[in-house]
Amino acid sequence: MNVYVAVVTAVWLMLPAYIPNNAAVLAGGGRPIDGGRTLGGRRMLGDGKTWRGTAVGTAAGALLAVVLNQLNGSAGDLLGVDLPTFPLLVLVALPLGAMLGDIGASFLKRRTGRERGAPFPGVDQLDFVVGALLLALLAAPNWFLDAFTSPVLLVILVLTPLLHVLTNGIAYVIGVKDEPW
Ligand code: CTP
Ligand code: MG
Repeated sequence: MNVYVAVVTAVWLMLPAYIPNNAAVLAGGGRPIDGGRTLGGRRMLGDGKTWRGTAVGTAAGALLAVVLNQLNGSAGDLLGVDLPTFPLLVLVALPLGAMLGDIGASFLKRRTGRERGAPFPGVDQLDFVVGALLLALLAAPNWFLDAFTSPVLLVILVLTPLLHVLTNGIAYVIGVKDEPW
């Protein structure tokens, strides 16, 4: 597989996992998932993880995957790449896994004494990728191993932190996000 095919395939596969966090930033607010509960004197997750942000983020990612499935043929012709189709369970697993990965990271951040919004280099950039990939693997193991070949996975691990830094930087500059990470 050449680099071009690997990059196009990686971005296509991960778009439903990239969108949820950005949608959650825009939709965030309302009741926190942890309901204000604490663990060892610190918030379990914090006010930055809300039901609304999680629901809207997951829905946005799943909707995008449905749209990508519709565009699959024409986009594939245009790009000259045989693009994968998302099975039903994976449509939900990718965005939900991304949100759960991000929530898991907040749990870890609170346990390690990091307040809401504090940076956790590495974890902030990859938590949602790990969550999305794990849940997609569980949802459809055969499809997953077929679609996420090692070159595609390698591109994802290199490209995602770059995209994350870029999009969060933009979100910070235009004023929709409080911190640039
Ligand atoms: N958000 C949300 N629900 C989620 C994830 C994010 O409502 N499951 C919204 C919140 O408004 C949050 C914003 O998106 O403040 C930015 O997300 P993130 O950077 O992940 O949260 P932080 O506020 O930085 O909190 P944490 O330190 O726990 O990551
Ligand atoms: Mg943050």
